[in-house]
Amino acid sequence: MTKLAACYDHPRYWNIAFSDETVPEAEFVNAAALKYCSFPVRKILEPACGGGRQVIELARRGYEVTAFDLNPECVRFTESELRRHRISARTLVADMCQFDFNEKFDLAHCFVNSFRHLLNEQSATAHLRQVASALRPGGLYLLGLHLLPPDAEEFDCERWTIVKGKTRVTTTVRVLEFSRNRRIEVVRFSLKVSTPDRILRASTDHQLRIYRADQLKTLLRRVPEFQILGVFDFCYDIQQPLLLNDDLGDTVLVLRRCE
Ligand SMILES: C[S@@+](CC[C@H](N)C(=O)[O-])C[C@H]1O[C@@H](n2cnc3c(N)ncnc32)[C@H](O)[C@@H]1O
Repeated sequence: MTKLAACYDHPRYWNIAFSDETVPEAEFVNAAALKYCSFPVRKILEPACGGGRQVIELARRGYEVTAFDLNPECVRFTESELRRHRISARTLVADMCQFDFNEKFDLAHCFVNSFRHLLNEQSATAHLRQVASALRPGGLYLLGLHLLPPDAEEFDCERWTIVKGKTRVTTTVRVLEFSRNRRIEVVRFSLKVSTPDRILRASTDHQLRIYRADQLKTLLRRVPEFQILGVFDFCYDIQQPLLLNDDLGDTVLVLRRCE
């Protein structure tokens, strides 16, 4: 049995863990582009792309994708997957709060709570402003995150297994610490990977910022460059817009860069 260090250093398995989400997310990108964007969406930006699940999926669908992550291992893996699939996209190592491109994008997206790695209001605001300045006026930002309604279970634990070929990945997400005052929870992500040859384990404790619906609205008011066009959940049903309120847990915002 080999002990692995950190989940994000193993993007291959992270990608498998979230592979059931990849097509619904990509379909949602298509649907949101058609419904909410007044021009054809061609150029897409993905901050915090991880192992590039969406980079591959959207590049394959014909979009021009630029994607970055703070973790060089994630970027290296994404590049190797692009070569393996013989498709192209631009990838780089960069920080969600500090990036600059000499071009404007039609749409940006960031799914699966990556945004909650930004642990305070300043960095969350800085990120939103950076994305807004990277978008064309009228461009969209699709932002996915879990909200924590006031009556939600705080010390939650979730586990699921995905099998791809001969690889079986079991993911466990367990809340270890929780402070509504500091708006931080510590979440342990654990991967158990079984292949015919061996079993690998990885585990990392991440601090994530907590958001209630009203806290997310307050943050968005600080970034008037964005207007909320639609609110959805992780069913990704573009026909079923929801309300941003305390009934909502899994949340996907469609934000529009104001003209
Ligand atoms: C939950 S994973 C999600 C990856 C990808 N968005 C997906 O859906 O598969 C979060 C990613 O955020 C990246 N990350 C965390 N903080 C970051 C930052 N400040 N700038 C860029 N990437 C960051 C991590 O390296 C990790 O790859």
